[in-house]
Amino acid sequence: MEPQRILAPSILSADFGHLGRTIRMLDRSAAQWVHVDVMDGVFVPNISFGFPVLKAVRRATRKTIDVHLMIVEPERYVQRFVEAGADLVTFHLEACADPARCIALIRERGARAGITIKPATPIEAVREWIASVDMVLLMSVEPGFGGQAFIPATFDKIRRLRRMADAGNPALSIEVDGGVSSQNARELYEAGANVLVAGSAVFGAEDPESEIARLLQC
Ligand code: DX5
Ligand code: ZN
Repeated sequence: MEPQRILAPSILSADFGHLGRTIRMLDRSAAQWVHVDVMDGVFVPNISFGFPVLKAVRRATRKTIDVHLMIVEPERYVQRFVEAGADLVTFHLEACADPARCIALIRERGARAGITIKPATPIEAVREWIASVDMVLLMSVEPGFGGQAFIPATFDKIRRLRRMADAGNPALSIEVDGGVSSQNARELYEAGANVLVAGSAVFGAEDPESEIARLLQC
């Protein structure tokens, strides 16, 4: 059975002057998740937003909030992200000295846990964690900025990860983040991804709500 396709619009590309309006639009839309990118200016060369914005998003939507942490030492903060409203917290393996502890801290507060790797990190790095997490996020651009071009080598990583998951955790979600658009969505689903993040493709579209529906039907 094909796993359910999930679209997670990334609010990083939204107009923050109208965040309330944006979240109401997402709430009406076919998107099941809202993707929230947290950057600390250390793990990535950019700073986005933190707890107050996440809390405001939480108050405005009942959709699943998917928090992508691009921060060093995520174990210091994961529980506060759950308390601020995250349903799912994903951290970078490259940024974490003790992933098992980080996963346990997230679960202890009642959220789902995900791990993620940058484009240059080999897929083998996630193998030992596949059975312990709900999701693996594969970055298909260098983390830090929206609007970059998709890295095609991601397709092969998705296929290899899906094979590993078939053996070790068939329920594993595979999320892809960076440069996703209607040009590559179908191929990404076919390779084995079931969650697509889309920032500029959604918020740069003339009609974001229709674009969301389109990305789910590609
Ligand atoms: C990049 C972020 C992405 C970003 C994707 O570091 O993790 O979630 O918003 O933006 P697009 O879809 O424009 O590549
Ligand atoms: Zn992201």
